Amino acid sequence: MDGLQAPRVLAAADFDAARTVADEWFGHPVGLTLHRLFFDQLGPHGVWIARDDGAPAGFLLGLVSLAEPDLAYVHLHAVDPALRGQGIGALLYREFGRRAMGRGCTRMRALAAPGRPGSIAFHRALGFEGPLVAGHLGPGEDRIVFERALPLP
Ligand SMILES: CC(C)(COP(=O)(O)OP(=O)(O)OC[C@H]1O[C@@H](n2cnc3c(N)ncnc32)[C@H](O)[C@@H]1OP(=O)(O)O)[C@@H](O)C(=O)NCCC(=O)NCCS
Repeated sequence: MDGLQAPRVLAAADFDAARTVADEWFGHPVGLTLHRLFFDQLGPHGVWIARDDGAPAGFLLGLVSLAEPDLAYVHLHAVDPALRGQGIGALLYREFGRRAMGRGCTRMRALAAPGRPGSIAFHRALGFEGPLVAGHLGPGEDRIVFERALPLP
């Protein structure tokens, strides 16, 4: 993609850059949802895309499930608002899914809050489906549990 470096795994050193942009990119404070654990310990499962000048363009935190080894689980992903609508979010998912398939995964799961229409539309556009589960992340924290088979289109 023009102006972007190739997707790569996360490095521990990416945590600070992600922390700097995350609240603005999500439009609210993300707190410890953006945990250092995903960079220091799970970095090889995640995806980082930088602009040619090295500034972050998008990132995905995820893992291959230990409880369900055929499942690739997306914890969160975000794209620079200035770069949205160009396929970077889909590129993050495709790269994560491609690598997860190499680790034996056959399906991918991601959660979406019912009040985030952009996230819901993104997942539906990529062919994800799933139920709204009341209280999935605790009292009052309903989530759509999206899932689809790999590979992504
Ligand atoms: C969700 C997000 C990552 C999408 O990134 P993006 O780079 O704009 O997505 P893409 O350009 O790859 O879009 C992929 C598909 O999703 C659709 N899509 C993405 N955002 C959409 C929106 N807000 N409304 C409607 N459709 C949308 C695109 O139209 C495209 O569909 P197509 O393939 O049929 O053309 C981005 O909006 C974002 O960072 N949001 C804030 C963080 C967030 O909500 N993360 C997800 C939950 S953790």
